[in-house]
Amino acid sequence: MGMLDHWQPVVRSHNLSRRPIGVRVADTLIAVFRTASGEVGALSDVCPHRRLKLSVGCVVGDRLQCRYHGWTFDTAGRGESPATPKMMACTTSYDVREAHGLVWIKSRTSDPPFPTITASGFLPVAILEHTIPAPLELVVDNFNEIEHSGTVHKTFGYDLDRLSEVKVQIEATADSVHVVNSGPTKRLNWLYHLLLGVRRGDIFHDHWTTRFSPVYSVFDHWWTSPDGTRESMVRWRIYIFFVPQDAKSTRIFTLAFAQSRYPVGPGGGLRLAGWWLRREIDREIRADIAMLDHMADYSTHIEGLKLSRFDKVLGLTRERIARIYRGQSASWRTIA
Ligand code: FES
Ligand SMILES: [Fe+2]
Repeated sequence: MGMLDHWQPVVRSHNLSRRPIGVRVADTLIAVFRTASGEVGALSDVCPHRRLKLSVGCVVGDRLQCRYHGWTFDTAGRGESPATPKMMACTTSYDVREAHGLVWIKSRTSDPPFPTITASGFLPVAILEHTIPAPLELVVDNFNEIEHSGTVHKTFGYDLDRLSEVKVQIEATADSVHVVNSGPTKRLNWLYHLLLGVRRGDIFHDHWTTRFSPVYSVFDHWWTSPDGTRESMVRWRIYIFFVPQDAKSTRIFTLAFAQSRYPVGPGGGLRLAGWWLRREIDREIRADIAMLDHMADYSTHIEGLKLSRFDKVLGLTRERIARIYRGQSASWRTIA
């Protein structure tokens, strides 16, 4: 399996209307377009004629037309040249699916399972996308480590002065890494305390699982009283899909769901407060991006780093990204 062999999100469905969108996945340029009948196609974004980007062309009926000389391509990549009608001009096409508000693609030759997204009992509150100027591994490192919540985040996380009390349990299987953290919540601002139903001294629970075909993590966050008898009024589940554009940048797609126990309005008030959660999740991701924007070194090697007990997952995720997502053989990884 190579990087393009996994189902991975490339654009938000609602952003894809009649204008094609050019994306980059694992150094490959891909043009995504929606035909007049609503079908979504994904083709190599390099016109086989003279290499103009097909994504700067336009949709004509059920075909994508190159802006340079007007050749057109259907969603299977079958091309037609107005000037040379008998010429065969096929280009690479990709499998496409629309699900969960996103357009997903993969190569035509692979057959991986589509990622399972489960959020029964939760209300969808946000679909977000961000570009991060860092390689895949460093972006995954950031989202798979909670130590920085003491300093970087405002809406959730652990008290910096009591980080030593936070419990970290890691369970790894051949294709997943599961982490369970619990410990004293950091102090949130008074409004968050009030809205989330969190009291000072409560325990913040942070459970996540990372999988690698495609690379994504699912996080569950909630609070309880120290004796476990009282739970916060709101909890959330957040899926983050990590899609490398190239060796230096990564796009992430976030699907956020929340659950409220408030006995008010539809969804426990979440339909009304959804915009607030959406804004907060976006702000927290931008806070992560601000850190990744200021790394002194974008090397993905971890040798020589002084890793903390929170960083034990770094080696586990790297091995699985290399083996499962990148499809690198064990011997290659040893040499690398
Ligand atoms: S470059 Fe696309 S039709 Fe000529
Ligand atoms: Fe973070």
